[in-house]
This record gives sequence, structure tokens and C-alpha cells, in this order.
Amino acid sequence: MAKVVVVVSGGIAAYKAAALVSLLVKNHWDVRVVMTAAAQQMVGPATFAALSAKPVVCDTFDPAFPLGPHIELARWADIMVVAPATANWLAKAAHGMADDLASLLYVAFAGPTLVAPAMNSEMWQHVSVQRNVGQLQADGVHFVGPESGWQACRTSGEGRMSEPTEIFARLQILSIAQ
Ligand SMILES: Cc1cc2nc3c(=O)[nH]c(=O)nc-3n(C[C@H](O)[C@H](O)[C@H](O)COP(=O)(O)O)c2cc1C
Repeated sequence: MAKVVVVVSGGIAAYKAAALVSLLVKNHWDVRVVMTAAAQQMVGPATFAALSAKPVVCDTFDPAFPLGPHIELARWADIMVVAPATANWLAKAAHGMADDLASLLYVAFAGPTLVAPAMNSEMWQHVSVQRNVGQLQADGVHFVGPESGWQACRTSGEGRMSEPTEIFARLQILSIAQ
């Protein structure tokens, strides 16, 4: 059974990450969920806790992890997926920043990381976002999407998070390739 950490950052597409976790669990993946503070504004941790049947980890200093969740989850996981990945998460990861658990875990994890960006098309096309994506690709990070289509800001454009089925398919391929 593959072990995956699903990092949920604070995009409106966080609700779709719940469907991703459900799909992973149905396919017998062992799932731990990490949420940023902004992600918790979008969807409650209780949803992910119930779907994964494990407590959601939101705090770098969670006392359930004496070594720190970034160390314990990084050692436990075979693969990590960030869905949705905000412009903020991409910027922090591209620069090796580690000021919350979602960014710290990326720096602490030596295995493959799949990133599913999600933001409105203006943000996605911004030169700073594209620069950060280019840096992460050069660093060996795997990307899925974003897609074009209807966005929560009520326009159509590129930046929509890939569907959970597509993200799951990419995770399966990456997991087999390990
Ligand atoms: C309603 C709402 C929706 C948002 N959706 C997105 C989004 O889809 N993508 C994104 O990059 N930022 C989005 N943001 C902004 C992020 O929540 C904000 O940049 C936050 O600091 C991200 O923190 P995190 O990366 O730690 O989760 C949204 C903010 C609000 C208020």
C-alpha cells in the first residue's frame, strides 16, 4: 500500500482535494493530510480527518510528533502531492522557505513531489509564478495541470486545478516508477 502525504494549501480548489483523498483511500493508499492555515479557511480539517481516518496535521509543533511532523511524515511517506498548490506555496517551495508545515515538509522530504497548481488565470500567468514554476521544474518537481476552464472567480482561463482522477492517475505512475 503506497503511503502519500496530501498537502492542501489555501486555494478555493481545496474542496476538490477531499475527492482526491477519498479516491486514494478507496484505492487502498495510506493517506496523511497536511493543511495550511489558509486551506482551513476553505475546508474544515474534519472532512479530511474523516476521509483519511487519520488526524490532519496543521501545526509544525504538533505534540503528536516528538521529532516534528516534517521529519516523521517525511520518513513515513513514499510520495507527496500538493493539491491545490497556491501561488504562495509555489513561491515558498521555489525558494526553500520553510515557515509553515506545508513548506517545511517539502524541504524535508527526499521522495517525489507532485504539484497541482490552482489559481486564477491572471495569477497563473504572472511572471513571478511562472518563474517559480520553472525553478521547481528544474529542481525535479512533477506538475499536473493546471487546466483551462471555468474558474471560481467567474471567468474562464488557465489555472483550474486538474481533476482528482487526473491527479490520482499521475500519482499512480510516479509511485510505480519509484
Ligand atoms: C476566496 C479565496 C480564494 C483563493 N483562492 C486562491 C487560489 O485558488 N489560488 C491561490 O494561489 N490563492 C488563492 N487565494 C489566496 C491564498 O489563500 C493566499 O495567498 C494564502 O496566503 C495562501 O496561503 P497558503 O499557501 O499557506 O495556503 C484565495 C484567497 C481567497 C480569500
